[in-house]
Amino acid sequence: MNDPFYITTPIYYVNDEPHLGHAYTTVLADVLARYARLRGDDTVFLTGTDEHGQKVERAARERAITPQQQADAMVMRFQETWDRLHISNDDFLRTTQPRHVRVVQSALQALWETGDIYAGVYEGWYCVPDERFWTDKDVVDGLCPDCGRPVERLAEKNYFFRMSAYQDWLVDYIEAHPGFIRPETRRNEVLGFLRQLLGDLCISRPIDRLSWGIALPFDPEYVTYVWFDALLNYVTAALTPSPLPIPVVKGEDWGRGLLESDSRLAALWPHCVHLIGKDILTTHAVYWPTMLHALGLPQPRMIFAHGWWNVEGIKMSKSLGNVVKPLDLADIYGVDAFRYFLMREMTPGRDASFNLDLIASRYRSDLANDLGNLLSRLVTMIGRYCGGQVPTPDAETDVDAALRTKAETVIGPTLEAVEALLVNDALALAIELVREINRYLETTAPWLRAKAGETARVATILYTAAEALRLASVLLNPVMPERMTVLQRSLGLGEHPQQREDLVWGMLQPGNAVVTGEPLFPRDIEAAR
Ligand code: MSP
Repeated sequence: MNDPFYITTPIYYVNDEPHLGHAYTTVLADVLARYARLRGDDTVFLTGTDEHGQKVERAARERAITPQQQADAMVMRFQETWDRLHISNDDFLRTTQPRHVRVVQSALQALWETGDIYAGVYEGWYCVPDERFWTDKDVVDGLCPDCGRPVERLAEKNYFFRMSAYQDWLVDYIEAHPGFIRPETRRNEVLGFLRQLLGDLCISRPIDRLSWGIALPFDPEYVTYVWFDALLNYVTAALTPSPLPIPVVKGEDWGRGLLESDSRLAALWPHCVHLIGKDILTTHAVYWPTMLHALGLPQPRMIFAHGWWNVEGIKMSKSLGNVVKPLDLADIYGVDAFRYFLMREMTPGRDASFNLDLIASRYRSDLANDLGNLLSRLVTMIGRYCGGQVPTPDAETDVDAALRTKAETVIGPTLEAVEALLVNDALALAIELVREINRYLETTAPWLRAKAGETARVATILYTAAEALRLASVLLNPVMPERMTVLQRSLGLGEHPQQREDLVWGMLQPGNAVVTGEPLFPRDIEAAR
């Protein structure tokens, strides 16, 4: 039995529309989920939206609507985008859902009971127009680093999570679990951060300053501040759906009790993989593990922080007007080509730079030339020389065996690259197989054999090439699910969820009728769409 696979994206703020960066994390999670399903793992893929907090409250005020209306409108934008991008999430969590509110409130109460949450005084530099606190380090000459207006010193009662108590435990945990925070550079960054003394975490805001949040169960004059609410989404979604209240028990007994009573949580939680961008590393690799530990829950299997997409080397930002909208690119190149580009171009863990020439050249070389052209040549030749049916292969020669071996031996390393989260390497391997098939056709030249009347030889060559292409399409399917389904249909295969058995040589049935259709990746994209 395979371990289950529970993969999460960050939950996105609903103050803005989805952009290239959000699309990257979500497509990467989708691709990993699809590979896991291909492996036969019991897979749960979670994404969602982070709806509370000042940013959303302010965005709503600017548009003269309620925060709930703001959230509802933006959630639609995210869901529409994910639908268009072939995102196969099993769950979509909104932090305003009752199932989540009950988890957050009972977790808050559990930590309040043990004193891990306590009342204290929060002090800092406050920017009144921006409604936000800054630290000494942030403030420049008494001015807000964001809007440049004067800040004032403010002290107010708030609630704190006793994060400092878990610093030593966290350092030991990270050191004992090398695979917990990945890649290595991010792990070192977190260990470096933990060399300073860890403070406690302010987890509340008074409702007269922020009302759009989950009320503290032990003080209704306060709501919990975004991260305490947001991070718990991963636990909410792992629970068995239930309308019953969560029993309030103290501290660690909270998580232990849940694990004992909820078999879904117990099965999923230890296998959880959090995909995040490097911007939210500290919240996930410091706040979250200490919260989980205090609540008596084990740690997720892995926190993986990927790099940043810049645009032509510059940070994407609204004010620079260089925000890349994922659907604009999908409109030009097609959804699957866009997904391929995202996955092929970024080495997870490093930054990548977006530019239009890059996507155009990937499209032309890997997809239109190598892959699309191969399919259309093969289907045309099977039509012309084999009556439009996948031929029955005759005796295998050395050159055929070499291609079969290449196809069979590329499977292991491709799946291993995916397990190491190196989807870019996995794609390079799969496309290399496609190139090998093209070379094989050049070497074996079935068109010359056909002219010479060598029917049996032509049958073997075309079967071998088509079967190798089918295998490549199974490996590429998690990245380009729609285009690879079309490819398989062209080879006369029925539509079905891809399984491990599809990765075995010889699954292509002789006799299948091939289908000539529109090009898989039209060369003249502008004209074709
Ligand atoms: N709501 C929090 C996350 C809470 S998770 C418990 C949040 N939301 S966000 O809307 O700002 O989304 C942040 C995530 O979007 C990043 O962590 C990253 O995954 C993705 N990206 C946003 N901009 C990005 C780039 N320019 N490049 C790559 N990914 C980036 O933070």
